[in-house]
Amino acid sequence: MIREESVAPDLNRSSPAVAASVLGVSKRFGKTGVLENINFQVSEGETLVLLGASGSGKTTILRIIAGLEQPNSGKVILHGKDVTELPARERGVGVIFQSYALFPKMSVERNIGYGLKIRHRKRKEIREAVETLLELVQLQEHRNKYPSQLSGGQQQRVAIARTLAYKPEVLLFDEPFGALDAQTRGHLRREIKALLRKVNVPAIFITHDQEEALELGDRIAVVNLGHIEQIGTPYEVYTNPATEYVATFLGAANLLPGVIRGDRIEVGTAVIPFSADAHKFRDGQSVKLVFRPEDVSLTREGDLPAGHSCIANGIVEEKSFVGAYERVNVRIDLSDSGACETNETPFYLTTETPESHSSKPIIATRPKPEAGAVSLNVGDRAAVGISSFTVLAVPPSK
Ligand SMILES: Nc1ncnc2c1ncn2[C@@H]1O[C@H](COP(=O)(O)OP(=O)(O)OP(=O)(O)O)[C@@H](O)[C@H]1O
Ligand SMILES: [Mg+2]
Repeated sequence: MIREESVAPDLNRSSPAVAASVLGVSKRFGKTGVLENINFQVSEGETLVLLGASGSGKTTILRIIAGLEQPNSGKVILHGKDVTELPARERGVGVIFQSYALFPKMSVERNIGYGLKIRHRKRKEIREAVETLLELVQLQEHRNKYPSQLSGGQQQRVAIARTLAYKPEVLLFDEPFGALDAQTRGHLRREIKALLRKVNVPAIFITHDQEEALELGDRIAVVNLGHIEQIGTPYEVYTNPATEYVATFLGAANLLPGVIRGDRIEVGTAVIPFSADAHKFRDGQSVKLVFRPEDVSLTREGDLPAGHSCIANGIVEEKSFVGAYERVNVRIDLSDSGACETNETPFYLTTETPESHSSKPIIATRPKPEAGAVSLNVGDRAAVGISSFTVLAVPPSK
């Protein structure tokens, strides 16, 4: 009893209130459908990243939330209020675009305070707000500079401070680091992440950069051709991609054809145990096995590390050094699981004739210690094992 009482309030606290909802939003431009039944929610203090290829509809979603575009159907709810019909300026939404056009003839201070000035706020109030914001984005010593005297990252911070001055209830970022170099982007996204934690304003952040999405998002929504393929924490979306698109868009992925055989999967001539989600598939169903390069282990003799399932033998086609790890391209022969035999992991040989296209390229990454312990060179034969994988149903061919 005591335990229940002490647990209940915690449970309440762990599910923060919904700050913004997009419900069944669809959008057409002329006859072209651009968004199809978009649904998601953002909680108080949460950062949701919309990740998708160019033209997938990300900016259109943001413009609809901001009130710069009207949906053909669906609703936008901000803090419990239906704002679908409200004009942009009445929504309490702050938008930071890629071209964040600061006023070139105004100092940093005046840029930040501008929004408050045109709202006829008192001078003292503006001064105090600007001071707080300068400190927040750490630009105190640059307060008198003009935008042309600032670095790209500093300009971006002014743009954020300027937007925060309005005290927006929801922040929208549309690829704000687009124009910056990789190192500055990395630096800035960590800054923005810390800043968002501090101000605790819910944010929707658009990017087509997967690294940015993984690092910034409390959750990621993967957008493809105007619909959301999957929404989840970076860990969920990366380790359990719901579709082939998600698997290949977010990180590198290997895909192999397989067939469900009870609580096992047949991959070429190897049969590997598969129990976790077996109930989602029927016996004999064609599937795709998805696994990440870092889930692959390569060994010479076939003595794979514990917990790995052997899938086939292969030949090393290419090897490259990528700093923290080694990247190895292996062409596996799905009709050859011979070297797996010495492996302790259970595997079974089937008598079925393998399909003609039994040769498949896969990518493996090996951390330095592993690469150092068993060195593999182009032309070497290796047994290929995997430590984890996701199984996707193969949609019926049209
Ligand atoms: N005002 C408009 N009139 C007609 N078509 C439009 C309009 N705005 C966007 N589109 C089309 O809608 C689709 C989605 O555009 P959107 O700008 O939302 O994509 P995006 O995901 O933001 O792409 P990017 O990563 O390149 O910015 C595109 O095919 C685009 O050409
Ligand atoms: Mg865009």
